[in-house]
Amino acid sequence: MRRETIAIHGGYDVDPTTKAVAVPIYQTVAYAFDSADHGAALFNLEVEGFRYSRIANPTTAVLERRVAALEGGLEALCVSTGQAALNYAALNVTQLGSNIVSVPQLYGTTHTLFAYVLPSQGVTVRFAASDRPDAIEKLIDDNTRAVFCESVGNPAGNICDLEALARVAHTHGVPLIVDNTVPTPVLLRPIEYGADIVVHSLTKFMGGHGTTLGGIIVDGGTFPWKEHARRFPMFTRPDPSYHDLVYVDHFKEAAYIARCRSVYQRTTGAVLSPLSAFLLLQGIETVALRVERHVENGRGVAEFLRRDRRVEWVNYAAFPDSPYHALALKYLGGRACSLMTFGIKGGFEAGKKFYDALTLVKRLVNLGDAKSLACHPASTTHRQMSADAQRQAGVGPETIRLSVGIEHVDDIIADLDQALAAADK
Ligand SMILES: Cc1ncc(COP(=O)(O)O)c(C=O)c1O
Repeated sequence: MRRETIAIHGGYDVDPTTKAVAVPIYQTVAYAFDSADHGAALFNLEVEGFRYSRIANPTTAVLERRVAALEGGLEALCVSTGQAALNYAALNVTQLGSNIVSVPQLYGTTHTLFAYVLPSQGVTVRFAASDRPDAIEKLIDDNTRAVFCESVGNPAGNICDLEALARVAHTHGVPLIVDNTVPTPVLLRPIEYGADIVVHSLTKFMGGHGTTLGGIIVDGGTFPWKEHARRFPMFTRPDPSYHDLVYVDHFKEAAYIARCRSVYQRTTGAVLSPLSAFLLLQGIETVALRVERHVENGRGVAEFLRRDRRVEWVNYAAFPDSPYHALALKYLGGRACSLMTFGIKGGFEAGKKFYDALTLVKRLVNLGDAKSLACHPASTTHRQMSADAQRQAGVGPETIRLSVGIEHVDDIIADLDQALAAADK
C-alpha cells in the first residue's frame, strides 16, 4: 500500500471482537486471564495477548503498527511524548560510560536532554561541529553506541545526508537513530536510506491538530545486534530483570523494541493514553493530504518573504541557492518542509514588533499544527543553549521560526504582510 492508504488503513481492519470500523478506545488498565496458567504464560511471553496497559494496549497497538508501516519499519513502541521517545531510544542502546555522537542542529529540549540529562546518568553526547558525515565520524570511538540526527533540523531546516551518516555509523558498528518529526514519513522515510531507528514527536504534523502529545520509536529491524555483541550486551546476554531472557534469541530482529518495552516502558512508564492514541490515529488519517498543503503553503510563504524588501534573510531548503538544496532534491523530492526561519531588517527589536503584531498566526512554541504558528526560538525553545550552541542549531537573536499551516495561503501572507508593516513603522 502507498503512504496515503497506510495512513488510513495501516495496522487495522475492523475490531476483532465487535467489528467496529473506527479503532475503539480500549480505556482499560488491565486484561483478565483465563486462568493462573494463562496469566503465567502471558508473563513468560509464551502466548500473545495483553496484560496491563503500561506494557501494551490494543488502541495504542494500532497506532504502533500504523506508524511502523508508514516508516517501512518492523516494530514500534508508542510513548507519552516525543521527548520520552528520544530518552528511551537513547537509553536502550547505552550503558554507564558509553556515548552517542550527534549533529549540532537539534530541537532545544533534545539538546538539553543530550547536553545535561543523559550525562548526569553517565551517558555522554558528543556534538559534532556540523552535520557532515566526516564531522560525525571524527567523534566516534570504542564507547560510541549510536549516531543521532534530526532528518530535518528544528529550526535549522538542515537536511541530513542520511545515507552517508548511516554508512559512517555502520562502518563503526553502531546504529543511526533519526528524529523524523519535521518531514514525517509522507516526505521522507529514513529507513529506506539506511537509518536503523526512527523517532517521532507525534504531537506535531503526524497528529496535526495541536491537541495531543505523543511519541513513537520505530525499529527497522535490520541492525545486527548479535554481530556487535561487545557494544550491545543488553540484547545478547541474559537480562536478570526479565527472567534472564536473551532479547535477540527470543525476539530475533524485533529485539530493540521488545527490550525498550519490557525494560523502559514497563519500569519507568512514560505511557501514551488510549484516548491520545485514538486522537493521534484520527490525525494520521489525513497526514498525507495535510503535508501536501503544508508544503505548498510553505513555498508560497517562503517566496513572499524572499521578495519582500523588509525581510533580511529566509532559510528555506527548496530555494536553489540554499546549501541544502541538493539534499532537498535527494531526500524530499525538491520539496521543503513548511517549517522555516527568517530574519527581518532591524534585527531583534524589529523582530519583536513583527512577532507582537501577528494576529492569524499564533505566537507559541509548537509546530506541525493545521494552524500557522510562529516562535522566537532564542527566547523560548532554545533559551537554555549558549549563544554558540544556538548559532550551531541555526538560531540567531532575530530568528523567527514559522510553521506554515493549511489555511488559505493568501490569508497567512496577509497576516505576515501587516505584521511586517507594523515592524517597519
Ligand atoms: C524535532 C522534535 N523532536 C522532538 C520534539 C519533542 O516532542 P514532544 O513535545 O512531543 O515531547 C519536538 C518538539 O518540538 C521536536 O520539534
